[in-house]
Amino acid sequence: MTFPLPPVEWPLPDEDATVALAQRLAALVCGHAPESLPPGGRIHLRGELGAGKTSLARALLRAGGVTGRIKSPSYALLESYNVSNLYFYHFDFYRFSDAHEWRDAGFGELLADAAVVLIEWPEQAGTRLPPPDLDILLEYAGTGRRAWLSACSEKGQLWLTHLTSSRR
Ligand SMILES: Nc1ncnc2c1ncn2[C@@H]1O[C@H](COP(=O)(O)OP(=O)(O)OP(=O)(O)O)[C@@H](O)[C@H]1O
Ligand SMILES: [Mg+2]
Repeated sequence: MTFPLPPVEWPLPDEDATVALAQRLAALVCGHAPESLPPGGRIHLRGELGAGKTSLARALLRAGGVTGRIKSPSYALLESYNVSNLYFYHFDFYRFSDAHEWRDAGFGELLADAAVVLIEWPEQAGTRLPPPDLDILLEYAGTGRRAWLSACSEKGQLWLTHLTSSRR
């Protein structure tokens, strides 16, 4: 199998649709879905400014059990959470430029954990990032959005199979 697989189109006509996709993904990524894999995995969120990356990430974190305020990590680069022994790392590399920052912050170690890792603007981290399990490209579509979901690992492929088979 050669990853990434061709992307699957997922219309998101309004923000409720984005939340619904995030909830279904959360069930899979957090190990709550009945047919689930072990919890954890990495998702890249790509798309231009305002495409809905943070909206999707926030809804996924909420569905994963994160309570309280969920800040966009655009200034801090990273916001982390812990829910019932599962770590969530939400990165935004929009302002990222410095390779030293990467090493000093120990980001590489976080990626190796069995955690839920969501990364906005992964392209800004260049080659430092390993491929994700799932790549999500968000684009504008009229007043709504459209997502393109690409599996980049066997785990991502299983998530996508579950998502598409339960699609209505
Ligand atoms: N499916 C959708 N249809 C219409 N509007 C949406 C949809 N999903 C999210 N939005 C809206 O689009 C905006 C997206 O903002 P958001 O901060 O999530 O974008 P972003 O991709 O993270 O941008 P940035 O690159 O600046 O971090 C929000 O105002 C949100 O309400
Ligand atoms: Mg954002």
